[in-house]
Amino acid sequence: MHFGGVKAVDGLSIDLTEGSIFGVLGPNGSGKSTLLAALTRFVDLTAGSLHLDGEEYHRIPAATFARRGVARTFQTVRLLPGLTVEENVRLGADRIRGRGIRERGKGDDDVAEAIGRTGLRGLERHRPGELSYGAQRRVEIARAIVAKPRLLLLDEPTAGMNQSERQEISALLRELREEGLTQVLVEHDVQMMVDTCDHLFAMNFGKLIADGVPASVVREPAVREAYLGKRWSEHV
Ligand SMILES: Nc1ncnc2c1ncn2[C@@H]1O[C@H](COP(=O)(O)OP(=O)(O)O)[C@@H](O)[C@H]1O
Ligand SMILES: [Mg+2]
Repeated sequence: MHFGGVKAVDGLSIDLTEGSIFGVLGPNGSGKSTLLAALTRFVDLTAGSLHLDGEEYHRIPAATFARRGVARTFQTVRLLPGLTVEENVRLGADRIRGRGIRERGKGDDDVAEAIGRTGLRGLERHRPGELSYGAQRRVEIARAIVAKPRLLLLDEPTAGMNQSERQEISALLRELREEGLTQVLVEHDVQMMVDTCDHLFAMNFGKLIADGVPASVVREPAVREAYLGKRWSEHV
C-alpha cells in the first residue's frame, strides 16, 4: 500500500488463522493503521492481494465486503454524538445487514447482547458525550461486534485509557476469542499485547520485521531497536 512515494505497507505478507488474536506492533508511522485499512477494504491496494477462505477479496467493493463478516474500530472515537449508546450500537447491525435505524424490533437481541458483553448495560439511553472515554471505546467495540463478525480489527482501542480500563478491554477481547472471534489488534502497550495476543507481527517502515509467539517477538533485537528510547524498553 503506497501513497505516492510513501511505502506505508511494503512487501508484507501475513496469514491469519481462525480463532486467534493477532497483534500488530510498531512505532508511529510504521504502517499499522494502513494495514488495517487495507485488510478492511477502506483503501484499494496499490499491489498485492487479499484472500479470505481462499477467495480473492481485494477487488470487491467495501460496501459488499462488510457483509463478509469483517468489522473494525478506528484509532479515534467515531461515534455519532446526537445518538444514544443503543442507537450507535444499532448502526453496526444496520451497516452490515442493510437495515434502517428506525426499523426497531429487528436485531434488538443482538444489540442488547453486544451492550451487555461490553459492560454498557444501564447506559443505553446516554449519549456518547456523557460517557467516560473508556466507555465510549467500549461502545465502538459493541457497534463492531453487534453483527457477529468473523474477523474484528481494532486500531488502538485502549489509547488514552488507564491500566484497569485496559485490562477490561483485554479481558473482553480474550472472551470474544474463546467464542471463536478472530481479531487483529493494534496497540502500543507491550505488556497488554503479550498478555492478550496469540501471535505478534512487528512492523517498521511498512515492513514486517518480526512474526511469531509474543514473548519471543518482543525480545528480538530488530524489534527492540525499532523501539529504542520509546515505551518499549520500560516493559521488556
Ligand atoms: N492517506 C494517506 N496519504 C498519504 N500518506 C499516508 C496516508 N495514510 C498514511 N500515510 C503515511 O503512511 C505511513 C504509515 O502511516 P500509518 O499507517 O498511519 O502508521 P501507524 O498507524 O503505524 O502510525 C506514514 O508515513 C503516513 O504518513
Ligand atoms: Mg495508526
